[in-house]
Amino acid sequence: MSVYAIAVFLHIVGALGLFAALGLEWASLYNLRRVPTAGQAREWAKLLSALRFVGGPSALTILATGIYMTTTRWGGQGWIGAGLGGLVLIAVLGGALSGRRSAAIARTVAGETGAISGPLRQQLHDPVLVLSAWLRTALGLGVVYVMAIKPGAAGALTAMGVALVLGLAAGFPGWSRGRRAVAVP
Ligand code: HEM
Repeated sequence: MSVYAIAVFLHIVGALGLFAALGLEWASLYNLRRVPTAGQAREWAKLLSALRFVGGPSALTILATGIYMTTTRWGGQGWIGAGLGGLVLIAVLGGALSGRRSAAIARTVAGETGAISGPLRQQLHDPVLVLSAWLRTALGLGVVYVMAIKPGAAGALTAMGVALVLGLAAGFPGWSRGRRAVAVP
């Protein structure tokens, strides 16, 4: 078995890890918005905060193996550039939109007992959390598409643009619902 074949395997393992982290993030967000007590919310908030330990190493594995495969076999290709851009965008959106909010939820919920307080409910229903998850899920699927189809630069950019628009469209209803929920005193 060649080193290249192992790199492909690890690259796909990294992609599985990324989607496992996204799936667990969806489960955490779903449950954080539904549980009645701070104790239950604390458990889901712990999982949400811990996801960076799955997502981070997965992204690094994808990147390291992707760079290896690119330099040893493929060279500069539009679909690889689009995949790299997509991965960077997923990381930036995760850190900027979800990372700080998840950490803030973990801090608030750590100090609460009993029923969920108003301020904590506001944090849990922050529409940005769901929008961010939709955007990263759609971008991840967009990258898998360009990796599998390997189109030219124009096709790869179009695919990533479509993924971004679909992510925004999927996140928008939750965004407006969340804003209304947060506005209720
Ligand atoms: C979210 C990020 C990414 C995901 C989910 C992902 C996923 C995948 C998957 C599933 C394949 C197998 C497709 C196939 O061979 O038919 C693949 C192939 C490939 N990926 Fe990625 N990838 C990502 C990012 C990257 C990046 C950033 C690079 C380069 C820096 C890269 C470079 C490659 C290369 C060169 C192949 C071709 C392997 C081969 O068929 O020999 N990928 N990727």
